[in-house]
Amino acid sequence: MNLKTKLNKLVFQNPITTASGTFGSEMEEYVNFNKLGAIVTKTITKERKAGNPSPRLYETEWGLLNSIGLQNPGVESFITETIPLYEKYQTPLIVSFSASTQEEFMEVLSRLESVNSISGYEVNVSCPNVENEGLAFGVDAQVVNELTAKLRKLTKKELIIKLTPNVTNIVDIAIAAKEGGADSLALINTLLGMAIDPMTGKSRIMKKICGYSGSAIKPVALANVYRVAQAIDIPILAMGGAENYLDVLEFIYAGASMVAIGTANFYNPAITEKIISDLSQHFSKYNLTMDKIRGKSF
Ligand SMILES: Cc1cc2nc3c(=O)[nH]c(=O)nc-3n(C[C@H](O)[C@H](O)[C@H](O)COP(=O)(O)O)c2cc1C
Repeated sequence: MNLKTKLNKLVFQNPITTASGTFGSEMEEYVNFNKLGAIVTKTITKERKAGNPSPRLYETEWGLLNSIGLQNPGVESFITETIPLYEKYQTPLIVSFSASTQEEFMEVLSRLESVNSISGYEVNVSCPNVENEGLAFGVDAQVVNELTAKLRKLTKKELIIKLTPNVTNIVDIAIAAKEGGADSLALINTLLGMAIDPMTGKSRIMKKICGYSGSAIKPVALANVYRVAQAIDIPILAMGGAENYLDVLEFIYAGASMVAIGTANFYNPAITEKIISDLSQHFSKYNLTMDKIRGKSF
């Protein structure tokens, strides 16, 4: 069945990809990577990061809390050790990266530009900006606009800006990214969450306030995707609580061109392939294409 879809510059065989930080090369044991629409890698930074102290994952009744803290090997090791693990697959590779200053974002992108097998970039702007009192880059429309424009000058590849939902008006940030030259937008990154042991008062996560993901956040993610899709005409890579093909259909009706599966990979590492197969059957049965349903919620 024809599940073909695209972002601005990239065409994909189907709309299913992986949410950054929830899916690594070790998943090849469970998933045939050639079946995926695209692969989005864990966010990398210029230097290696050890991540936050444990405990840094906690499963609540309604979703997952995490405070991994961008643990990654750094861009050099990523290029020499990680990228080759994906080069045997045809699936487009989208590399997520982040930094703590605009200059450093540019340095990481310049370095990644030397790698031909990268199809596009997802820019994680949810991390603290040391030049702006440690506020996340993604909460300030002006900063998002400037940063996107600087990165745009460095690459012709698909440039996806990943938005945080922890803002007053996500549409303002989406417009700022588009005007800065983004090809497409990814949303949403995690909400903020916390859990406390009620018997002792101790936080379940060492860093206390952390990222909240999983099926519980799907209605919030859908609302954000729908609002952005209504406001601007730029392709959307949606994520937030999608764990089966019906969830994916909801995101497509809300306006998404691609849907990333995140937390659901922890419950079933083979879930992405199952979703693609279920979606394909559904498209066949009802004679659908992405164009027929994208953004057609009423
Ligand atoms: C354990 C974990 C690690 C994550 N790491 C990253 C990351 O490195 N970069 C990023 O942009 N998002 C990261 N995320 C956020 C996901 O990519 C996604 O935006 C979010 O979890 C919502 O989707 P989901 O509910 O399907 O998981 C992480 C999420 C989890 C649960």
